[in-house]
Amino acid sequence: MDSLAAGGLRAELMTFPAGESSKCLSTLDAIYQAAGRCRLARDGLILALGGGVVSDVSGFAAATWMRGVRWAICPTTLEADVDACLGGKTAINHAAGKNMVGAFHQPELILVDPLCLRTLPMRDVRAGLAESVKHALIREAEFLDWHEANREAILALDGEVLAELVERNLQIKASVVEADERESGVRAILNFGHTAGHAFESWFEYELRHGEAVALGMVAAARISERLGRLGSAAVARIIAVLEGFGLPVAALRPFDLNAVLELTHGDKKVQSGRRRWVLLDGAGAASIHDDVEDELVREVLASLQPA
Ligand SMILES: NC(=O)c1ccc[n+]([C@@H]2O[C@H](COP(=O)([O-])OP(=O)(O)OC[C@H]3O[C@@H](n4cnc5c(N)ncnc54)[C@H](O)[C@@H]3O)[C@@H](O)[C@H]2O)c1
Ligand SMILES: [Zn+2]
Repeated sequence: MDSLAAGGLRAELMTFPAGESSKCLSTLDAIYQAAGRCRLARDGLILALGGGVVSDVSGFAAATWMRGVRWAICPTTLEADVDACLGGKTAINHAAGKNMVGAFHQPELILVDPLCLRTLPMRDVRAGLAESVKHALIREAEFLDWHEANREAILALDGEVLAELVERNLQIKASVVEADERESGVRAILNFGHTAGHAFESWFEYELRHGEAVALGMVAAARISERLGRLGSAAVARIIAVLEGFGLPVAALRPFDLNAVLELTHGDKKVQSGRRRWVLLDGAGAASIHDDVEDELVREVLASLQPA
């Protein structure tokens, strides 16, 4: 607030409680009320300072207030630095599902300061790294090598290494989003690990961070790719080793109901015309989208993720 004032900008601060449960209608309403109080108009701007929850809900407020005002993001979590801040997807959750109500609305500006991560709990840093590994796996094999080579510096939050990590992630995500902003095709590869990931996230409720659920989902998708002859077993073992190296789960920590989780993979809103979509790997750095993965195979692979 001080630096905005020093820059001659009039701003009103609006805060809300941390956590996924704040990505809801009542927070949206509170943002609208704050926007009304300070007479936010078309020449104004909403500045999101926080993690993916803050950018998703404030971005949706910006997309809808007065039919759309500008917004900017200063992400403060690794998840938001490498993924949530870019691409223009904004949303709130609804009883009908996660991210069920939202809009595409591109930010004017993204300003990442990796030093914000110094105060972020390590568990959230690790969770964000799952999306970074995802970007490497779907698009850039060499970036996977980079994660292996720089593992210790990444986990030590080395400023230069983090800056490179963020930059490379945003380049990869931008290249995919530029090719298909509204997700009519290739953008769906960004959902690698998210079909089973969202199912685990729902089943374990808020026990798992989003990135932790995505790590489990990536193991599932890699194993499905392997069973379909698209990915070698050495590549699967390597993916698991990279995730484990970042302290991410590669099997569920508690037993889960196999049928329920299988059912939840169907409930994914990424289903198109009744068939659920899986993003599979054809080697590190190469992803493709499939809607013909048999339930029986999914069931077997999910079963392999039960705790030992
Ligand atoms: N729009 C997109 O494209 C997109 C992409 C990925 C994820 N998301 C969304 O992002 C959300 C997850 O984001 P997240 O992982 O950032 O969660 P989050 O926003 O809930 O932040 C995690 C926790 O970290 C705290 N925090 C934030 N910055 C901190 C800092 N610098 N130091 C200490 N604590 C800090 C927060 O208060 C919160 O308790 C999900 O709702 C997901 O759907 C959106
Ligand atoms: Zn994600």
